[in-house]
Amino acid sequence: MRICIQGCQNGGMIDLQQTKMKINLSGMPLTSLVTLYSRAKISKEHASLFNDAKAVELVEQIDYCFSLLEKSGADFTLFANAARAMQLDKRVKAYIKEHPHVSVINLGAGFETEFYRVDNGIIRWYDLDLPELIEVRKQLLPETDRSTCIAKSFLDPSWCQDINTENGLFMIAGGLFRYFGETEVHQFFSLLADRFPGCEIVFEAESKSSIDVDGSCGAYGVGWNDDEPEKKDAMQAEYMKAFENAWKMFFPQVQKDMMIGALTTSTRPQSAKWDDFETWWDQLSAQEKGKAMSDFFFGFTCGCPLEDASEMTVWDNRITVVDQFPLFRGIPRDPSLSKSIRQFMDYTDEKGRIKIFHVRV
Ligand SMILES: C[S@@+](CC[C@H](N)C(=O)[O-])C[C@H]1O[C@@H](n2cnc3c(N)ncnc32)[C@H](O)[C@@H]1O
Repeated sequence: MRICIQGCQNGGMIDLQQTKMKINLSGMPLTSLVTLYSRAKISKEHASLFNDAKAVELVEQIDYCFSLLEKSGADFTLFANAARAMQLDKRVKAYIKEHPHVSVINLGAGFETEFYRVDNGIIRWYDLDLPELIEVRKQLLPETDRSTCIAKSFLDPSWCQDINTENGLFMIAGGLFRYFGETEVHQFFSLLADRFPGCEIVFEAESKSSIDVDGSCGAYGVGWNDDEPEKKDAMQAEYMKAFENAWKMFFPQVQKDMMIGALTTSTRPQSAKWDDFETWWDQLSAQEKGKAMSDFFFGFTCGCPLEDASEMTVWDNRITVVDQFPLFRGIPRDPSLSKSIRQFMDYTDEKGRIKIFHVRV
């Protein structure tokens, strides 16, 4: 299998080690390499905060230009991915302590290695993702007698028949719902309430304010207020640097075209070629730049923003809120973390931009 990334070919950075596995993913499944890399990087650099040895191992096994991710993602966005894993781990561990035989399903699992981080030797585990992702996952992370892959969309209700729930069911969904609209997410929760009444699910939610295209670029981006010019300038500079690197080296032409097509700007020169991107970029308003970066990094703006978990109870009165808290709660602002990561953590939590929701259906 082969993954085609511009920068890899042009930059002469192809890893020629034959033992590594080449993979061919695009679209949403490709995002799981970013989160995998994030967990591996944080594990290597901040082992006292997070330790995902399996992710480190996988990154070493995969033939992919991870070095490009290093340049194309701001440090704080990579850290946010690992922080989400830390919070989901804590919830799963607490649940399986009380229910050691429970089944756990990871929806939109990608290359998540959570099973290895939380396994108590008894639980039953399922990793669900799209068929093209699961095909690769099974080669890298073979199924075991207690961990099974399900190659289906979480929106396809037939997966409900593929799991054993005789000892209960706990669910996690990290980095998944943001790619779907409220109608789909809402319907999915009603499906859970129909099929698995009493089960609990933990996931992250982004606030409406985090995705307002006000010169910010999404919950994982900057968006600092004008009353905090120092933070705003520093974070925006870091994000812009990453964006430019990603733009030039990383993303295929088709994605650039899609992103630009989605922009409503009237400033785009008719004959614009990507060589004159800088010229065009300079003419965009702060709002357009924010939307561009958000769309570029995440495919599209978060489709299902939620301010407070109680909003979900309006969708379906069978949903109850178990807990909700800011993404970085309880994660030490360790001195080994860069200043921009620590600022990002404080700011994101203060503004409630990304939260962990734990609900029961
Ligand atoms: C940002 S990645 C997150 C992966 C993993 N949860 C993690 O935190 O590393 C998003 C994942 O959602 C998966 N995905 C996208 N649409 C999906 C769908 N309809 N059903 C199941 N998985 C889906 C993608 O294939 C990808 O693996």
